[in-house]
Amino acid sequence: MKEEEEVPFGCGRGASVLRQWGNCVNNIAACSRLPVASVRVEVGCEKVLAAREAAAPRRPQGDGYNDVLHEMQIDILTLFPEICRAPLSESMMKRAQEGGVLQLRVHNIRDWATDKHRVADDAPVGGGQGMVMKPEPIFAAVESLRREGSKVLLMTPQGRRFSQAAAAELAREEHLVIICGHYEGIDHRVTEQLVDAEVSIGDYVLTNGAIAAVVVVDAVVRLLPGVLGHEQSAADDTFSRGLLEAPQYTRPAEFRGWKVPDILLSGNHAEIAAWRKEQALQRTRANRPDLLADDQP
Ligand SMILES: C[S@@+](CC[C@H](N)C(=O)[O-])C[C@H]1O[C@@H](n2cnc3c(N)ncnc32)[C@H](O)[C@@H]1O
Repeated sequence: MKEEEEVPFGCGRGASVLRQWGNCVNNIAACSRLPVASVRVEVGCEKVLAAREAAAPRRPQGDGYNDVLHEMQIDILTLFPEICRAPLSESMMKRAQEGGVLQLRVHNIRDWATDKHRVADDAPVGGGQGMVMKPEPIFAAVESLRREGSKVLLMTPQGRRFSQAAAAELAREEHLVIICGHYEGIDHRVTEQLVDAEVSIGDYVLTNGAIAAVVVVDAVVRLLPGVLGHEQSAADDTFSRGLLEAPQYTRPAEFRGWKVPDILLSGNHAEIAAWRKEQALQRTRANRPDLLADDQP
């Protein structure tokens, strides 16, 4: 077993059955667009089978992708494809692509520039510092890639702040086209005429949208059915239930004199669940009280 797959304490007999049930519930929630909690309560056997069928990989229709089954397709448009390629070709992202869950393509926007020097930027109209990305290559790129049902995202610090809920929403899409800015940003006609959603990964300014796109793709793809080894863990993750996750431990039971909490070694699943819930609340109160506020978005 790999280090990252060590069995967590408190996860004893019956865990694999629970995991299978958890996988099933998560798949249904993803397909039916219902919250995981309500699926858990409401779902019956027939719905389980129907949702499993609906969760089967879809076949893209004549759009140039390999003739294999894929759950989701993502096209990233950037001036720096290598920034995206390395982080998205390791670990779970690699597994998602090899397993046919994700078809990822990273494109250089310059490939759609028509002049001799493949220029993709120009000075800002009206004066000002730096350069702005030109609209022509971006329009040409998006228009050649998108199809009915595609969702076009623009990475920008001016966008709506990305969150776990936004990741879950995007995980239901079939095809994302993600535009990454650079320099001072992008000609605003792209934002107005081409883009379905502007996405910010936080209140700070990066030099390049490719880094932000990697963050979004990773957060979305790990929610697709079959990507995580133990899908139940996505449902338990920080933010998924509006709380931070409870502390996790693995072997050894004692390290440099610091012990794993006794409760996790007790084998009493009800008490472990109660302990985890209380710990999750405590951590949330200490680190992210805003998540417990009534008026949070
Ligand atoms: C230097 S930034 C441009 C910032 C722009 N001048 C402004 O003030 O809004 C260059 C590119 O990085 C990306 N970027 C920077 N910060 C980002 C953030 N917080 N979230 C998403 N994308 C971001 C965008 O694609 C942006 O076009």
